[in-house]
Amino acid sequence: IRETSHEQHAEVAHWFSYPTVLEEWRKTLRHGFTLFFTGLSGAGKSTLAQVLYARLKEQEARPVTLLDGDIVRKNISSELGFSREHRDMNVLRQGYMASLITRHGGIAICAPIAPYANTRAQVRAMVEEDGDFIEIYVATPLTTCETRDRKGLYARARAGLIKQFTGVSDPYETPVNPEIVVDTSLQSAGEAADKILAYLTAQGYLG
Ligand code: PPS
Repeated sequence: IRETSHEQHAEVAHWFSYPTVLEEWRKTLRHGFTLFFTGLSGAGKSTLAQVLYARLKEQEARPVTLLDGDIVRKNISSELGFSREHRDMNVLRQGYMASLITRHGGIAICAPIAPYANTRAQVRAMVEEDGDFIEIYVATPLTTCETRDRKGLYARARAGLIKQFTGVSDPYETPVNPEIVVDTSLQSAGEAADKILAYLTAQGYLG
């Protein structure tokens, strides 16, 4: 039996490690992540999600998927209402879809109210098994959302015509440690989107 030299051992080890190196490289290139907007109705989540979606589609090679609250409710949560149980099911379904997109190297953008901290934590844990989770708290105050009242829902909630309305007669648990906070009463949607994109670039998610 021919003795193998130290150099030959090193070369064999190098070639055995090659697929691993390749795999690591592939992961860095196609690392998926989820942008998860949360905040009150009328805080600006959908607008921001749409701006981000358009900007990321323009500059990113990875597929970008927008899972807007209204779209999800219409297509996969149409039987659900706004009890705690139903909100949780709705948000977890959205989180599950985001985790699949993330797993396959895509970028998922979600924008539900997601009022419960525990449910948001569950979604984070689910997504983080597959990639990164970036929670963006749209901290626009209730007074601003209510003054805007674009859909007339706050007025109806105050009049008692809509039960369990978030911020009026149902809770919203403020995020404690979100990656990003924006407030559309203090900044325009464009400025808030710039802040989010700057964060993503600085953290190495883009570019
Ligand atoms: S949740 O709590 O995450 O399941 O909510 P979500 O799926 O994002 O749906 C929020 C939108 O539904 C409308 N709506 C209500 N919001 C809060 N509370 C009650 N009771 C309610 N009933 C209807 C409202 O238009 C929300 O829209 P956004 O886009 O957040 O303004």
